[in-house]
Amino acid sequence: MILSPIEIITRKRNGEKLTEAEIQFIIDGYTRGDIPDYQISALLMAIYFQGMDAEETAALVRLMRDSGVVLDLSDIPGPKVDKHSTGGVGDKVSLVLAPLVAACGVINPMISGRSLAHTGGTLDKLESIPGFNTQLDLDAFRRVLHELGVCLIGQTAEICPADKKLYALRDATATVESIPLICGSILSKKLAEGLDALVLDVKCGSGAIFADPAYSVKLAEALVATATEFGLPTVALLTQMEQPLGRGIGTWLETAEAIRMLKGEAEADFEEVTLTLSAYMVWLGKLTATLDEARERVTEKLRSGEAFALFRKLVQVQGGDVRYLDSPESYPTAEHRFEIRATTDGYVHRCHARTLGQVAMLLGAGRQKKEDGIDYLAGIEVLKKVGDRVQAGDTLAVLYRGTGPIPQELIDRATSAFAIAAEPCQPLPTLLGIVDEKGLRRWM
Ligand code: URA
Repeated sequence: MILSPIEIITRKRNGEKLTEAEIQFIIDGYTRGDIPDYQISALLMAIYFQGMDAEETAALVRLMRDSGVVLDLSDIPGPKVDKHSTGGVGDKVSLVLAPLVAACGVINPMISGRSLAHTGGTLDKLESIPGFNTQLDLDAFRRVLHELGVCLIGQTAEICPADKKLYALRDATATVESIPLICGSILSKKLAEGLDALVLDVKCGSGAIFADPAYSVKLAEALVATATEFGLPTVALLTQMEQPLGRGIGTWLETAEAIRMLKGEAEADFEEVTLTLSAYMVWLGKLTATLDEARERVTEKLRSGEAFALFRKLVQVQGGDVRYLDSPESYPTAEHRFEIRATTDGYVHRCHARTLGQVAMLLGAGRQKKEDGIDYLAGIEVLKKVGDRVQAGDTLAVLYRGTGPIPQELIDRATSAFAIAAEPCQPLPTLLGIVDEKGLRRWM
């Protein structure tokens, strides 16, 4: 049968179900470069509005996975387990978690993404370390995994090439917030890694992909159901993203914060999320009998400095300049900075993650077009979060930009992210719930 992109776009636009052959035609044609960006953009927008059912979603995941190689890591001893986040503001967890779980004996073949919409991406953060190569070929990826038990790369021409192209296109066409497209993107990468188990961090709150937490729950359920259909044991933790995680937003600011945590100094929420996700990985990898034991093991590996030592080796092996790990203060500083200050005494009631993520992106920490470069010095340091007491004149956040003066409009937008009121306010909980094969259990 002769298939046509226009007919497929029209059918999805009209709310019809696509066949496996049609999805294959699109994924293969786009990966090869036969179907242009503008037609795929239209199809992505049609999927955004019309959705896909479970069968279409599973076909999308499988065909995206099979656009490249599916790894067989059975020659490397140890459980293969990975973590993936649906994306948040200030989410630098992977930079600490990957070496931490590897120090515990997990083999972590992590394929990550770049910044997406207002959320930051692990690859851009790693590349803020001069020389760090996230585009290793398969042989090099395997070699590093053999040597260190962990390696961090992006989608390549060999692994998940379909996601490499679709991910960048979704970012530039406002089609990120779609459950089937997110399932296709995340699970194609994770299934290509040849894993024994997967832990997902599904962010909930204004800074998450879906600002409405009810959609985050639906996303977690769809991800777990689809992964389970592929036989991959998967657990999704629902974590707080109403405000940014930790302090830094922006590539180098977040990398520096991850280095500080690996060296023993961490914000409580960042540490809690990282240790919890890491413990689940160690436990699902069957390296401990209980989750509590796994928690003790990861805590010990973080405190002993073993995770930092492994991260340092990893950065070295992947070509990064370890001088900036040894002395992060020697990294260049942004020429332009602006402090946002409290104008009244009181308590912070809002520290709006999405607004701060959008401002960080516009400062240069993310992209507005696929081709845009990243300003590694750009970002925001968040000094006060929900529940904190402040006095008039206290600094709430500092904006940084390396490529030019900070526009007043961005200062005004970042200021609007904060709300201060006289009455005390409780800090936000960090861990909200879990979705596993038993369904959803809320912790908060
Ligand atoms: N992370 C991904 O890899 N893909 C998405 O679509 C969202 C988050």
